[in-house]
Amino acid sequence: MYNSKITGLGFFVPENVVTNDDLSKLMDTNDEWIQERTGIKERRHVVYGEDTTTTMGVKAAKIAIDRAGIKKDDIDFIIFATLSPDYYFPGPGVLVQRDLDIKTVGALDVRNQCSGFVYAISVGDQYIKSGMYKNILVIGSELHSHGLDMTTRGRGVSVIFGDGAGAAVLSREKDTSRGILSTHLHSEGQHAEELSLIAPGMGKRWVNDIIKDNDPNDESYFPYMNGQFVFKNAVVRFSEVIMEGLSANNLKPTDIDLLIPHQANLRISQFIQKQFGLRDDQVYNNIMKYGNTTAASIPIALTEAWEQGMIKSGDLVVLAAFGSGFTWGSVIIRW
Ligand code: UT7
Repeated sequence: MYNSKITGLGFFVPENVVTNDDLSKLMDTNDEWIQERTGIKERRHVVYGEDTTTTMGVKAAKIAIDRAGIKKDDIDFIIFATLSPDYYFPGPGVLVQRDLDIKTVGALDVRNQCSGFVYAISVGDQYIKSGMYKNILVIGSELHSHGLDMTTRGRGVSVIFGDGAGAAVLSREKDTSRGILSTHLHSEGQHAEELSLIAPGMGKRWVNDIIKDNDPNDESYFPYMNGQFVFKNAVVRFSEVIMEGLSANNLKPTDIDLLIPHQANLRISQFIQKQFGLRDDQVYNNIMKYGNTTAASIPIALTEAWEQGMIKSGDLVVLAAFGSGFTWGSVIIRW
């Protein structure tokens, strides 16, 4: 039996900065509303044609592989988490295998939205624990901006989301008191439609229906979020799943050195911080700069925190996410 540990981290965000004032030129919104409700000051949007979810993931992955001190052909498996794939199918995992020119390893796509990276890490952890693989490339990447309703009708959602990618290399660790100590995953599909993108899908509206109806008021192909309902569930589930992870390892909130919550809303992070009695330097937030990048938010934040020297060997690092599905989860790491 082995543990897995994160040996390399990388992230990529597009250069194009979109401020709240920029958005107020497209829709009826304003900097004050956005900052007050979400903490977001700006986000990055891909300029059309410059990048895709896959190419951003590849850029982040190259940095992570380099920092892990391995060669691309040492990667045994690829796991790619996203809700904004380049194609309906195949998923971006195989596109990464192609773009990185890696030998024909397996490539798995994870569809768990904001919890995608936590789910992906959990899957990778099991493969390494079982001895099946030595090095796994885990990517979270999103290109939201091309698919948002950039009019006043969509403002409740479109001001929140940004583009970017983060990646981690998970590697075999012989010392089972180090690395990933546990992962905990949950879902509650009863609330599936409360944060969702319904079309195109085989369930309710396929492309043919959209073309046939040609309805300018059709919102089914834009993301929908029941914001307040999601918010209320998020604060409860974040707390529960962090506590679940700590308790499973006989740890307490005071043992946490750094909490990296999925960047859904600065108010949610602040609520959790208060609940666990953590100082500002024990919770990493970057939603102010990047908005909510869904599956990419945790690996981007983790990489930034690591680059800033906020994570030292032996630290207890906690990752936690909540989002569409609903799905939620936590990862407890002894760095
Ligand atoms: O990452 C996945 C998980 N996601 C989350 O956890 C997000 C959870 N939810 C939230 O973060 C918040 O609910 C939002 C930030 C999305 C919205 O904040 P809110 O305080 O719940 O606002 P609201 O949706 O209740 O809207 C309040 C008002 C409405 O106007 P009326 O009906 O009071 O006149 C909205 O139409 O604010 C209006 N509004 C806006 N105004 C200016 C909605 N969006 C905007 C906007 N700019 N962008």
